[in-house]
Amino acid sequence: VIFLRRWRAASARIVPLGAEAAEAMAALHATGFARAWSAAEIEGLLTGRTTAGLGVRLGSAVMGMALVRVAADEAEILSIAIDREWRGCGLATRLLDRALDLAARRGARRMLLEVESGNAPALALYRRAGFREVGRRRGYYAAEGGGDALVLARDLADRARPFPPPPDAVASGPDRG
Ligand SMILES: CC(C)(COP(=O)(O)OP(=O)(O)OC[C@H]1O[C@@H](n2cnc3c(N)ncnc32)[C@H](O)[C@@H]1OP(=O)(O)O)[C@@H](O)C(=O)NCCC(=O)NCCS
Repeated sequence: VIFLRRWRAASARIVPLGAEAAEAMAALHATGFARAWSAAEIEGLLTGRTTAGLGVRLGSAVMGMALVRVAADEAEILSIAIDREWRGCGLATRLLDRALDLAARRGARRMLLEVESGNAPALALYRRAGFREVGRRRGYYAAEGGGDALVLARDLADRARPFPPPPDAVASGPDRG
């Protein structure tokens, strides 16, 4: 069954999601986190200028979502969640990859996120995508029955830049000037 699901998941598309998808995103978020976010909260985020939504679309259904905030040269993954039935198919990996590109295109140089220290699937996902631990907030999730929060970061230098460098910068090479 997992093979069939993976095969179907391969035809999923990563799409931008706007405020109209807030209900679907709140439902997905609730499958993954002890503290639910309401559709109104998500809609509020998506109507602002700094936060973008991305979704995993399979046919007419949305099977995953990510919320990405970009402020100046720093981006943050506010949330990423995949429908339980569709976890383990590589969908979050694809979603995260697109979130990195989106952040870089909007001018971010670094992506940050916070994750519960015992969340093995999420840590595997982020480590594989090049994130490294830069901080730990002890007892951060204790109220929700969890442990510490790890702060992870990843440089976006390998991602698309908003503008190509000027021709003379290319000609002079990285070591000069
Ligand atoms: C974390 C999450 C988004 C991953 O989604 P996904 O589509 O299953 O992720 P992928 O299939 O792309 O990759 C998941 C990785 O975790 C691994 N994994 C899956 N279940 C695991 C488990 N129980 N323990 C350890 N690793 C696990 C997978 O093997 C894979 O790593 P690998 O390719 O190196 O083997 C999903 O589990 C989820 O929605 N969780 C609830 C919400 C959440 O925790 N979000 C992240 C915190 S911000």
